[in-house]
Amino acid sequence: MSFAASNESVHVRAPGKINVYLGVGGRHDDGYHALATVFQAVSLYEDVVARQADDFSVTVRGAAEADAVPLDDRNLAMRAAKLLATAAEYDGGVALEIRKSVPVAGGMGGGSADAAAALVACDALWGTGFSPARLHDLAARLGADVPFALHGGTAVGTGRGDQLNPALARGRFDWVLVTSDEGLSTPVVYAELDRLRDEEGALADDPALSLDVPIPVLQALRSGDATQLAASLHNDLESAALSRRPDLQETLRHGIRAGALAGVVSGSGPTVALLCADPDVAEAVRSTLSEAGREALHVHGPVPGARIVG
Ligand code: C5P
Repeated sequence: MSFAASNESVHVRAPGKINVYLGVGGRHDDGYHALATVFQAVSLYEDVVARQADDFSVTVRGAAEADAVPLDDRNLAMRAAKLLATAAEYDGGVALEIRKSVPVAGGMGGGSADAAAALVACDALWGTGFSPARLHDLAARLGADVPFALHGGTAVGTGRGDQLNPALARGRFDWVLVTSDEGLSTPVVYAELDRLRDEEGALADDPALSLDVPIPVLQALRSGDATQLAASLHNDLESAALSRRPDLQETLRHGIRAGALAGVVSGSGPTVALLCADPDVAEAVRSTLSEAGREALHVHGPVPGARIVG
C-alpha cells in the first residue's frame, strides 16, 4: 500500500438521518434484525477534523450531551480510524476532533455519521486512496447505519440496513426535529420490540420474515409530495420507543397541533421527526414548539453524505 499523503488536517462533514420508513423483520442469530428502511440524510451535521498524529485520540465538542460520548475504543469514529489503518497497513495515528450537532443517542445516526466522516477524513489525510466500495465495506463492519452516512441522499436499506440502493427523491422535504435531553439505547429499543412481539405471540426470531418498503413511500419520494409522504411515514420501532418513553406520544400530538402534516419517531428514538408542507410551515412549527419549551430544529433533506469541506 502506498501513501500519497498529504495535508496536516482534513475536515469532513457527515449528515444525520431520519428513517422515513422503518420495517423491522425477524431477529438473526447474530442479534441483528432484518430491516427494510428508507433513510433520508438531513441538514444536521457532524463535523470531524482529522489531524496527523503518532497515536489515536478523540476529542468531542458541541452538543450538551457530548460528555456522554466515550473517548476510547467504544467511540465509533476511533474504531473507524483504527479499522482503516489496519486495512491500509498504515502505522501512524490520527487526532480526531468531533464537533457534534446531531443529538447523542437520538435515533438519528450521529455516531454513525462520526464513523463515516472519520473514514473519509483518514482516507484523505493518510492518502490511502480506497475506492468508495472499499470504504462502504469497512463502514458496514462498523455499524448498520454507517454506510448510509457515507452515501447520504435518500436510500433504501435492506439486510441490517447496510445494503443500500439509492431512492429517487424530487425536491426538498422540510422537517422539524424535536430532541430529548436523555437518549435511548438502540439495542434496548430493539429488545423492547422483541419483548412486545413475544407478548403478542409474534415470531420475533423468525429471520425468514420477509420485508419490503411499501410502493407508496417510494412514489411519494419520487413525486416530492410532502402530503403523500406524510401519509406513508412509518416506523416499526416506534411502539417500542413509546413503550420506553410514553411522553413522546404527546410530542407527536403537539407537532400535529402546531401544523405538521405527520410525525414519526426517528429510528430507535427519542428524536421525533415532524414532516411539514413547506419551509414556512416548518419554521412556524419550530417556533411554536420552541416557545412551548421544547428543543426543536428545522432541517431539510435530502443532503449529501460524508464530504470533505476543507
Ligand atoms: O449497527 P449498530 O451498532 O448501530 O446497531 C446497534 C444495535 O442495534 C445492535 O447491536 C442491535 O442490538 C440493534 N440492531 C438490530 N438490527 C439492526 C440494526 C441494529 O437489532 N438491523
